[in-house]
Amino acid sequence: MSATYRIAPSILSADFARLGQEVASVIAAGADWIHFDVMDNHYVPNLTFGPMICQAIKPHAKTAAGQPAPLDVHMMVQPVDALAQAFAQAGADLISFHPDASAHAHRSVQAIKAAGCKAGLAFNPGQPLDALDWLIDDIDLVLIMSVNPGFGGQSFIDSALRKIEQARKRIDASGRDIRLQVDGGIKAGNIRQAADAGADTFVAGSAIFGQKDYAAVIADMRQALKAPA
Ligand code: DX5
Ligand code: ZN
Repeated sequence: MSATYRIAPSILSADFARLGQEVASVIAAGADWIHFDVMDNHYVPNLTFGPMICQAIKPHAKTAAGQPAPLDVHMMVQPVDALAQAFAQAGADLISFHPDASAHAHRSVQAIKAAGCKAGLAFNPGQPLDALDWLIDDIDLVLIMSVNPGFGGQSFIDSALRKIEQARKRIDASGRDIRLQVDGGIKAGNIRQAADAGADTFVAGSAIFGQKDYAAVIADMRQALKAPA
């Protein structure tokens, strides 16, 4: 299992009136990636932001030393392909989509990669991992939803741990360098359980942006990841 954990704060819970500053602050507080939740009021019952906002925050997604932090775009939209291309042009580094939202998931993966981005597949709590049977050789990230997509601040669904374990087995069997991301209801108190199940990349929205001191929350998360089992 990869020991290089990544913490990816979801700006869904950030202050949208100060988005650039929020992105810069959370990176200064120790975030590795910026998780960007795209919702279309069709695939999910909520509406967030699109490629123009992604492009606007791109210059802010940097450490104080000027090192870029990857923009991790999680598309909860249907259909997938046209918007994925727009996000690639808007500066996304990784683009994940839900395979059930694309008529041709393999083609969507190829198109994302051809546009110069890493490609991820996202799985809802009620869905099996079957799409991995045919796509694992082509992707860079598996995203396991531990809440139903659409809203921040929901409670972690425990069956996601079993699904993370299954995904971890498939990734290890593939021998490929694929990140295993968990998304939804993650906080310092349960991040270690997700890591023990096999996750190496952790999305957290409300747990981080809901507190004043982002650095303290991220430090607590890293401490929990370090603590002996
Ligand atoms: C839900 C989103 C998640 C969500 C995480 O549809 O994909 O990224 O914002 O937020 P918390 O950490 O608050 O569950
Ligand atoms: Zn997400």
